[in-house]
Amino acid sequence: MSKRPSISFAKYAVVDSGTAILLVPAEGKAAAEAESVVGQALLSRIIDVSDFKGKLATSLSTLAPNGTELERLVLVGSGDPAKLKGDDWLKIGGAAFSKIGKSKNVSVVLALPGTEISAENAADFALGILLRSYTFDKYKTKKGKDESEKEDKFVASVTIQVADPHAAKKAFANAEAVADGVILARNLVNEPANVLGPVEFAERVEDLKKLDVKVEILTEKDMKKLGMGSLLGVAQGSTRPARIAIMEWHGGKSKDKPIAFVGKGVTFDSGGLSIKPAGGMEEMKGDMGGAAAVTGLMHALASRKAKVNVVGVIGIVENMINGDAQRPGDIVTSMSGQTIEVLNTDAEGRLVLADALYYCNDRFQPKFMVNLATLTGAIMVALGVYQAGLFSNDDALAAQLFDAGQATGERLWRMPLGTEYDKLIDTKNADMKNIGGRHGGAIIAAQFLKRFVGETPWAHLDIAGTAIGAPTNEYSQSWASGYGVRLLDRLVRDNFEG
Ligand code: BES
Ligand code: MN
Ligand code: ZN
Repeated sequence: MSKRPSISFAKYAVVDSGTAILLVPAEGKAAAEAESVVGQALLSRIIDVSDFKGKLATSLSTLAPNGTELERLVLVGSGDPAKLKGDDWLKIGGAAFSKIGKSKNVSVVLALPGTEISAENAADFALGILLRSYTFDKYKTKKGKDESEKEDKFVASVTIQVADPHAAKKAFANAEAVADGVILARNLVNEPANVLGPVEFAERVEDLKKLDVKVEILTEKDMKKLGMGSLLGVAQGSTRPARIAIMEWHGGKSKDKPIAFVGKGVTFDSGGLSIKPAGGMEEMKGDMGGAAAVTGLMHALASRKAKVNVVGVIGIVENMINGDAQRPGDIVTSMSGQTIEVLNTDAEGRLVLADALYYCNDRFQPKFMVNLATLTGAIMVALGVYQAGLFSNDDALAAQLFDAGQATGERLWRMPLGTEYDKLIDTKNADMKNIGGRHGGAIIAAQFLKRFVGETPWAHLDIAGTAIGAPTNEYSQSWASGYGVRLLDRLVRDNFEG
């Protein structure tokens, strides 16, 4: 697989070397700009004999097409151009990039007949390329049998031909910031837990200082002073100390209250004494997907200098089982003052978020808080792995999030909250317990979080199914999808800038 390509934009022109990529709409003819590359006759013939239908993100490669000097010609289907939506342009870009082989010189004629391709569409196409080119192979010492692959020589340069290269380039600058944020989130999540514990995660967050993000790290001593017994209870079974990382980006007016994002950062979730079964436990290195998304988002917003004030707060712990580990039945006192009976040490994410959410709200009094967490297996039972669960105490915020999900393809489905569910975490021994009954586990977890957000507009995104082990697609071949970065960048861009 190729490394991250370099991408540039140019006006439409004839392509006479390297790889040419042309768009073909469903059941239709390609645009004149595309036909001129290999000639209308040859293009029609290729489409005829192959029976290529131009369905969305399908492709067809022809090597050394007759009568040209091209190495390869790649046709990529756009589906019905009038119906392109959500992440369709990312899929087209990803599919196109997957067909370039070892070509170093790639030209894309981004044109469709009778359809205007906007600068945003072109930027999304390019974003699809960048996200598709991502691989997590830093621990592979032999990158491929092929000598050239080993050397990572195939850094392609991709020129995307559009009507207005200047506008596309501008839109792409923002898309590239988002790509870097998604890739950061993927890297953090893919990293094994022996390498990335709470301290190491916090160190990576400190790298954001380079982008003028203000970063503050709370140690266990700080957290003890603040009374964060809920978070610290989870951390006490690990020899690796917990951290809270606080990121601030000031891109808005100085008087404007910030918006806030809060993430669950369990760098490994063994379940604690309520230990998880061995099968699949390795996936719990990704139990910090919420915190990674918040970090990636802050990276993206700062890189593109978003005009908004934002804080990110992530609670980073390892849920382990040494002699100090928290026991089922332990009662802890959270920073809010509320006491919690820990009946299952594997329901640890909510214990971490209880203190992180309360702290964030208390310190910053944000306009709203959105938290992300790989919180429950139950959300996958409810929704599968194609949409994340959305829980909120605020209909307007929920609607904005839902819309951002539709626009980016990082979709959300709203789940209920209600007093009946809330009662399920009452217990005679403390203010609440950390588990409920057998049914509605994702909702019960959300109700638990709700007890720590006060009256502040808040949304909880349960990303257990979408952040890790989610199905790969045209623009993600990674176990860690980076889910949430594009979604929340869009939420901010559409509603809270300028
Ligand atoms: N991190 C898990 C949830 C999870 C499971 C995320 C699978 C991604 C994939 C969470 O800490 C957990 O263990 N939740 C328990 C809660 C239960 C003990 C109430 C669960 O979902 O089983
Ligand atoms: Mn757990
Ligand atoms: Zn967990």
